Amino acid sequence: MAKTQTRYVCQECGRSAHKWMGRCPDCDSWNSFVEEKRSEKKTRTPEDVAGGRSEDGEARPRPLSEIDMGPETRIESGLQEFDRVMGGGLMQGSVNLIAGDPGIGKSTLMTQLGRHLPERTILYVTGEESVRQVKARAERLDVDSDRLLLFAETNTEEIVAASREKEPDLLIVDSIQTVFRPDIESAPGSVSQVRESASALARWSKQNNVPAFLVGHVTKKGSIAGPRVLEHMVDTVLYFEGDRHHAYRILRARKNRFGSANEIGVFEMRDDGLREVANPSEIFLSERSYGVSGSTVICALEGTRPVLVEIQALVTPASYGTPQRTATGLEQSRLRMLLGVLEKREGLQLTDHDVFLNVAGGIRLDEPAVDLGAAVAVASSFRDIPADTTTALVGEVGLGGEVRSVTQIALRLKEVAKLGFERALVPEGSLDGLTPPEDLEVKGVRRLREALEAVL
Ligand SMILES: Nc1ncnc2c1ncn2[C@@H]1O[C@H](COP(=O)(O)OP(=O)(O)O)[C@@H](O)[C@H]1O
Ligand SMILES: [Mg+2]
Repeated sequence: MAKTQTRYVCQECGRSAHKWMGRCPDCDSWNSFVEEKRSEKKTRTPEDVAGGRSEDGEARPRPLSEIDMGPETRIESGLQEFDRVMGGGLMQGSVNLIAGDPGIGKSTLMTQLGRHLPERTILYVTGEESVRQVKARAERLDVDSDRLLLFAETNTEEIVAASREKEPDLLIVDSIQTVFRPDIESAPGSVSQVRESASALARWSKQNNVPAFLVGHVTKKGSIAGPRVLEHMVDTVLYFEGDRHHAYRILRARKNRFGSANEIGVFEMRDDGLREVANPSEIFLSERSYGVSGSTVICALEGTRPVLVEIQALVTPASYGTPQRTATGLEQSRLRMLLGVLEKREGLQLTDHDVFLNVAGGIRLDEPAVDLGAAVAVASSFRDIPADTTTALVGEVGLGGEVRSVTQIALRLKEVAKLGFERALVPEGSLDGLTPPEDLEVKGVRRLREALEAVL
């Protein structure tokens, strides 16, 4: 029998250690170390795992000119929201990770690719659901392709063998947490299994120049379950986000070796699948509240695309104990900073108030340009005065209560004008050389106070 070596691996971040630890020194998780045995027998060579080299794939250094790109390098699905996030289509030989909460729609999106790529052979490996379940979903999504091959298997060696035999144009593994390599002793879903299985699949994909999608779950903390190293191994990391209670889903690239890493694709989840949302602003503003205090509209930039979103704040006297500060769709620390500025610079007595801030529609914003709208929404609710509904706000708020410039102001204002707003408040510093769109009054503000005076 092969000798085995024991080590302990943090299931949150992938740190390994020779002895068990109660708390991970890297990610501070408690009780996250799990014993993993690894066989010391010779590890298999890449060829064992990936099933040999590709025909021309002799592994030796070659000059650029000798490398054949093949007839096409990207596969376009025609699902534009998807293609854009991928950087203009699915890159040949790319390994892509799509992660998201259970039930968000990862399997739906992957199955739906069968409808958009009917002439491509897709090998769909399902480790979580039976082939009947996947077929039922495919029928609901109106996927009727003889070239979508379903394979219920979790053994990575079998998956690679099937890929070799079927020579698909796209390999989907749903999910990476369910597959395993028999030569590794730990359980499926453990850090070593996830890492080694992904590495074997990635090698097959690269050697055969076939794109692969690995579906991954995220943990409660929001990171991809399994090792962080998975993110380093793949070419693109996509997050499929959204509030399960809303129909909107956002596909967001966190890493993209073949395109911009901050593009988003917006979809609406329906019974018959994911529908593209070509104009997200209209959707995010469709349930906007009018005449109610605590609501503002901001223009955020998602990748190259401006999106108008409603920000809602509710400020109420705290009944007991420490006042609550809750932000949904925005960083908590950002909210605390804005509350500090409102107190110190604008004299709002917020210490004995609960503050709730919500980005409507389930979208998550992490751009400082939302500050001004968020701060005004809080002040509007605190004073119980509705903010002017014909005005959109854009600007970062500094610690001194100053409004700081933001990027791409022209692009944002175009979207604001397109959606029928009459006025936009923007940082004074962003006005330089700007030609505002017709029919839109653009007012520069230097301080948060000026914005409060203008809209409340
Ligand atoms: N029969 C159905 N009719 C309509 N929508 C459904 C049906 N079954 C599942 N869904 C939708 O699909 C979602 C599950 O999507 P799925 O792709 O399986 O998620 P994931 O793979 O991310 O866990 C559910 O949350 C639900 O919104
Ligand atoms: Mg699924």
